[in-house]
Amino acid sequence: MKKDNNLFKINNPTYWEEKYNLPKQGWDMGYVSPPIKAYIDQLEDKKIQILVPGAGKGWEVKYLLDQGFENVFYLDFSVEAVKKFKENCPTFPEDHVMPNDFFLINRQFDLILEQTFLSSFPPINWPEIAKKISNLLTSGGKYTGLLFNHDFGQKYPPFADTPEKYVEVFQPYFLFKKFEDAYNSIKPRDGRELFFIFQKK
Ligand SMILES: C[S@@+](CC[C@H](N)C(=O)[O-])C[C@H]1O[C@@H](n2cnc3c(N)ncnc32)[C@H](O)[C@@H]1O
Repeated sequence: MKKDNNLFKINNPTYWEEKYNLPKQGWDMGYVSPPIKAYIDQLEDKKIQILVPGAGKGWEVKYLLDQGFENVFYLDFSVEAVKKFKENCPTFPEDHVMPNDFFLINRQFDLILEQTFLSSFPPINWPEIAKKISNLLTSGGKYTGLLFNHDFGQKYPPFADTPEKYVEVFQPYFLFKKFEDAYNSIKPRDGRELFFIFQKK
């Protein structure tokens, strides 16, 4: 089979460093995503262990910190993203910043929040990621957030697919507690996002 060098480059921090060195990042909303904010706002236990993988400038992480969540972990392997996050959220505890490759971490969390992280990877890699996310969750832990509901038809991020594809990939590991069109997406993503709560089986 022909090797696709573009796909190889994608799980490589250099790809993302180059993006963070541009004046704007297309995915960066500049504030916490409203459906995720609404989800966070109804959480009562501020002590749960929460991971935001591929957190970028970390708007969700900052929001969690501001709401008093005590065990929030920021993860991103881009040096530039980590730097921008720290500027953005200077009071965030240093020992909760994980400047690591997602595939190399192995502690457990009660909640993993999804905001344009899965879309960094082509669907061919999703089964491996679904398994990894499941391994990173405590028993009954949740993977929650947003997924685009359509294929962008390109060989570079964002990658996305149909709801049926997400069912195929995640059902082996998760119970689908919620999986529906988001009603509170930002305008440019309106009608294009699925809000989901997947619980580890
Ligand atoms: C599309 S950006 C999303 C950033 C942020 N979630 C947002 O919505 O603004 C994807 C992020 O995932 C990070 N990333 C990609 N692959 C990664 C990996 N294997 N380990 C850790 N971070 C990764 C990139 O550095 C980038 O910051």
